[in-house]
Amino acid sequence: MIVLVTGGAGFIGSNFVRFILEARPDCRVVNLDKLTYAGNLDNLRDVSHRWEGDRYFFIKGDIAHRPLVREIFSGEKAPKPDVVVNFAAESHVDRSIIDSTPFVETNIKGTQVLLDAAREFGTELFIHVSTDEVYGSLPLGDGRFKEEDPLLPNSPYSAAKAASDLLCRAYYRTHGFPVIVTRCCNNYGPYQFPEKLIPLMILNALEGKPLPVYGDGKNVREWIHVLDHCRALDFLIDHGEPGEIYNIGTGEEKANIDMVRDLIAHVASLSGKPLEELESLIAFVKDRPGHDLRYALNSDKLLKLGWSPGCSLEERLRETVSWYLENRDWCDRVRSGEYREYYEKWYGDRLEGG
Ligand code: NAD
Ligand code: TYD
Repeated sequence: MIVLVTGGAGFIGSNFVRFILEARPDCRVVNLDKLTYAGNLDNLRDVSHRWEGDRYFFIKGDIAHRPLVREIFSGEKAPKPDVVVNFAAESHVDRSIIDSTPFVETNIKGTQVLLDAAREFGTELFIHVSTDEVYGSLPLGDGRFKEEDPLLPNSPYSAAKAASDLLCRAYYRTHGFPVIVTRCCNNYGPYQFPEKLIPLMILNALEGKPLPVYGDGKNVREWIHVLDHCRALDFLIDHGEPGEIYNIGTGEEKANIDMVRDLIAHVASLSGKPLEELESLIAFVKDRPGHDLRYALNSDKLLKLGWSPGCSLEERLRETVSWYLENRDWCDRVRSGEYREYYEKWYGDRLEGG
């Protein structure tokens, strides 16, 4: 089986490339990635060392670039893909508030270009990695989103993801093209770009910088370890039904402030920094506009099919904190000048005001 992974140099994509090459000895992977600020070949150094040119092929390029994408699907550039797993996206809500243009370009147009080429060249299965954020926000309490619920996205990021998610549905309904859409909750684990909550808080705590918690910190997210997400996607290659949508969640919800407190407790015990010192870094700052209060998924459909999460947040959070402590050089390398500019633009006023 030849799998085209788009966005394979990002957080989830790189974990997936490594996972599938290890899990399926008969599988080859073509990784198409534009290498934006969030994409790093560093994330796949081991993979490239072991398998490049044999079972692993990297192509630098844009999923919205039709001529290149057609060459890839036709097999001119690399082995012709049987299956696609589409991770490539602009993925950070806060950046979509500053400028939504790349979100529309990549998340919507890019997905359309991939769907067209995949159809044209007869790809057998197209897995589109969507997100729980397309459903919009839930009140605090018990409700959970089901696959048939309406899509009510609130950020430019989630709106662009919802558009691509619905394009996939339309290609199935109109053209009978075999697409599976997955909607996963918030991921954590190694190689996550440090703009996202968990690595940001770990690194700021280690560096003695403020820990910017939006609003009152009561917003709730459901969390999954990235390898459990990868396992679910791999499982769906064999067991998913084309035309279907699958929520991928664990049921493990946490308010942001509780997550930040758990993280600093782990940082304190692993680094020896005094806990009170880290607690004093917590800064409640101006909220993210349109900030969704709560995400929670009903994942019964996937559970009934036979997948289940392999580990708990309790077990894996400490290990994740430890990974960032042990990979400080990776963290330094990926936080480029571009990232520092973004950080200043987004957090500058917030932290001064807060
Ligand atoms: P990420 O930002 O870490 O990685 C995105 C990758 O896509 C990067 O390697 C980037 O270089 C690449 N990319 C961006 N634009 C591209 C383009 N035009 N052409 C080719 N490559 C391009 O994101 P992530 O957190 O790994 O998320 C991956 C996917 O999973 C996204 O589609 C996201 O919406 C979805 N998702 C993420 C989460 C989460 O918690 N991180 C949860 C649910 C769904
Ligand atoms: P994030 O990691 O950006 O993921 P998403 O917005 O896709 O869920 O944020 C997770 C939660 O943490 C979200 O409710 C926003 C909040 N948050 C903060 O409070 N402070 C921060 O600096 C960041 C990046 C996020």
